[in-house]
Amino acid sequence: MTKVQIKVNDNGSFRVTGDVELLDGEGKPFPAKPAFSLCRCGLSENMPFCDGAHKGKLQSVVRAPKPEGTDAE
Ligand code: FES
Repeated sequence: MTKVQIKVNDNGSFRVTGDVELLDGEGKPFPAKPAFSLCRCGLSENMPFCDGAHKGKLQSVVRAPKPEGTDAE
């Protein structure tokens, strides 16, 4: 099984890759794709997918915290 990864893109969408099933609010699946981007700005006209409407409007850079007990940057 392919490991699922979700990347928080700087100033943009959530990029989802791997063997994952995306369901709507009633539990019905969207057509399967090996990779897709989910909107996190609320401006897409193709929810829940990103349609690029965030460009120039979303400022959000998220970084994971350092693992505990390390000095890694
Ligand atoms: S994050 Fe791209 S349209 Fe919302």
